[in-house]
Amino acid sequence: MNVDLSQYQIIASSIIRDNKASFIRANIPFMRINREGKIVPIPIKDIDMVLNSPKAMNIYINKDYQKYIASIVNIKKTKEKLNPAMEAEKDSLERMLKFQKMSLGEKIDRISNHSRKMTEALKEKTITKTVAHDMIESQTDASLILKSTVFQNFKQVKNNDKTFEKIQNENRELMKVTKNLVISIVKILSKNPETSDVFSNLKHYSEGGTAAHSNRVFVMFTDFIRFYNTQTNENSFFVKMRRQFSEEYSQFYQNIINKYNDYKTITILEDAIESGLGRLNENELLNLPVAALLHDIGKVKDIDYFEGENTRDIDRIQRHLFNSYYLVTKMIELPKEISLTIGFHHEYNGFGYGPFKTLYEKNKVKDPRFRIPYVLTYSADSISNCNAIGYFPAKVLEIVDVYDALIDPARKYRKGKIFTKEEALTLMEDDFIVKHTKLDPILFHIFKEYIMSKKTDAILNI
Ligand SMILES: [Fe+2]
Ligand SMILES: [Fe+2]
Repeated sequence: MNVDLSQYQIIASSIIRDNKASFIRANIPFMRINREGKIVPIPIKDIDMVLNSPKAMNIYINKDYQKYIASIVNIKKTKEKLNPAMEAEKDSLERMLKFQKMSLGEKIDRISNHSRKMTEALKEKTITKTVAHDMIESQTDASLILKSTVFQNFKQVKNNDKTFEKIQNENRELMKVTKNLVISIVKILSKNPETSDVFSNLKHYSEGGTAAHSNRVFVMFTDFIRFYNTQTNENSFFVKMRRQFSEEYSQFYQNIINKYNDYKTITILEDAIESGLGRLNENELLNLPVAALLHDIGKVKDIDYFEGENTRDIDRIQRHLFNSYYLVTKMIELPKEISLTIGFHHEYNGFGYGPFKTLYEKNKVKDPRFRIPYVLTYSADSISNCNAIGYFPAKVLEIVDVYDALIDPARKYRKGKIFTKEEALTLMEDDFIVKHTKLDPILFHIFKEYIMSKKTDAILNI
């Protein structure tokens, strides 16, 4: 057998197996040595047979393809290595499985330990890299512990093992330690408003996945409501807004209320917003962030949750909201302010989805002359009574949530585009305010100032 192999090299069958589709697409001829000792091509239809043959056979390729094959193999390797979103998702799943096996006491201990660490960290002057890391870890643990618990609870209810009442009692202590943890973190964040760059590059914050999204939304929500309160601290703010109202905003609110109240004319700010623009009190500033942390607790994996495009699985996407709302109202005892913020975070002034529609229809059935008086309210009771369409903390969460979806490197919104902060803000204004009256325009303008006041480019530093 005297075949000249100087132009050929052996290629490992494992490399062919791993990259078969790319090789076939590139039309790379695989060769073998036949019985006569001649080098002959292997027909592509036979390649599987050769690869699976119990008799080991050398497969050759022309050396001209060497570089090309190396590049394909390298691209694949880099892709595999550089998928931090998947890594983070895998890690979350593993943690959830671990938490599922824990007793309630162990879960409470774990969150309490995090809480102690965060109370300790409150003494530090700035958010150090270590504090930032511990903070994100504790947020991730707390939200995943709660998530795995309420999902388990759901099964227990379904199998008639436990009642809602029993579950709520059991979860009371767990929720109490979680709230304490959140309060410590909120206090740390409010001492250090310029936060984004300390968190960048932290797994479960900047590396994609559901936990990272919840963590970023939580941090930004906490930071932004403080900013909102500082802006509204000045009396001149209210004077300015009231002055600009008829020219810049009244039509927006009029368009929304027209759908629910054909008698109402919106002239001044107080016509659209119940009791006018207000501020959040200290209690709200400390507690509302729990809603931001748990807002997507009902998400299941494998769905891209941005609802800006029609091609997505809309039904399943919408279910995450109802799941979240159901789980936090049935399994955990939460103040109305928090559960309504979660439940209303995709309402988009009646153009989205959530419990508002049911609430509205109930009122309409009771009294066909029922008209909703306001577009926006700061009061949770007013939302329960259907006195307004939008709930202020939920309108904040909507804005932060949409913004995060646009700058999130792990999402595939609009052909895989990740937006810069300016692009994201422009799109939000064009699509979510001018074209569709979904986000609150006054709140959005304060949010814009907030984002532009940040030193780093967006909350992600990638
Ligand atoms: Fe959501
Ligand atoms: Fe979200």
